[in-house]
Amino acid sequence: MSVTGKNATVTPPQVMASKGSTPLVCLTAYTTPMAKLADAHCDVVLVGDSVGMVLHGLLSTLGVTLDMMIMHGQTVRRGLERALMVVDMPFGSYEESPGQAFANAVRLIAETGCEAIKLEGGEPIAETIRFLTARGIPVMAHVGLTPQAVNALGGYAVQGRGQDGERVAHDAAAVTDAGAFSVVLEKVPEPLARRITSEIAIPTIGIGASPACDGQILVVDDMLGAFTDFRPRFAKRYASLGEEADKAIAAYAEEVQTRRLPAAEHVFGDATRIVADGGTT
Ligand code: KIV
Repeated sequence: MSVTGKNATVTPPQVMASKGSTPLVCLTAYTTPMAKLADAHCDVVLVGDSVGMVLHGLLSTLGVTLDMMIMHGQTVRRGLERALMVVDMPFGSYEESPGQAFANAVRLIAETGCEAIKLEGGEPIAETIRFLTARGIPVMAHVGLTPQAVNALGGYAVQGRGQDGERVAHDAAAVTDAGAFSVVLEKVPEPLARRITSEIAIPTIGIGASPACDGQILVVDDMLGAFTDFRPRFAKRYASLGEEADKAIAAYAEEVQTRRLPAAEHVFGDATRIVADGGTT
């Protein structure tokens, strides 16, 4: 853990001050058990709107609602003691106006207890970031590939190749100027992410970006191999929980069908004994 000593709580100013030091360890979580596991190792836990795809089976993040984010935020809050908790503002909850963004960010903070919110977009959303931060709401920005813009972008391609790199660099500078305390750089070419990290004053948190970033983030279900519908190149797997779960459920099914479950140690009753054909007497 890089930002504070062992039992101290991580704050947005500490994240901001960590620029250039030990990389920030950031991970998504959507449930209390996973939040507890992440809290032991991470500086920042993000309740990402990726929850719509990895837990709710949606095809994109566009169908995620504020109520879903609040419900998962409350669930994650119960598992965190130390990490900074950030909750994503879902598609449609902040783009209309700074006032709309403020009202919905207040709901997220008041109803989940998160310390900060994240929203997607660069220069076009900078005015909203300025409005929120001026009113005491810490904002993590998100530039490069912004999945809520999947239809406008025509897919999930790398952003900022060639001349387009200037647009992404400009977006990162604009959200910094607007007062964001950190910025996620998603799926941008490595040299561009490195350059942006050296140019802006706030920590960059990379996902498919660069080891030079001030922190890294992954979707927890991707890195655990629990979400297997598709696998982005940047989603390094540290476990194969999907395969393990498949094997475990297959073994359970086989034991149920052959009456090997429950065995003697799983049943109750003074005179209970398991007879050879799997029945009990
Ligand atoms: O929704 C999410 O999980 C995210 C991360 C990938 C940064 O925005």
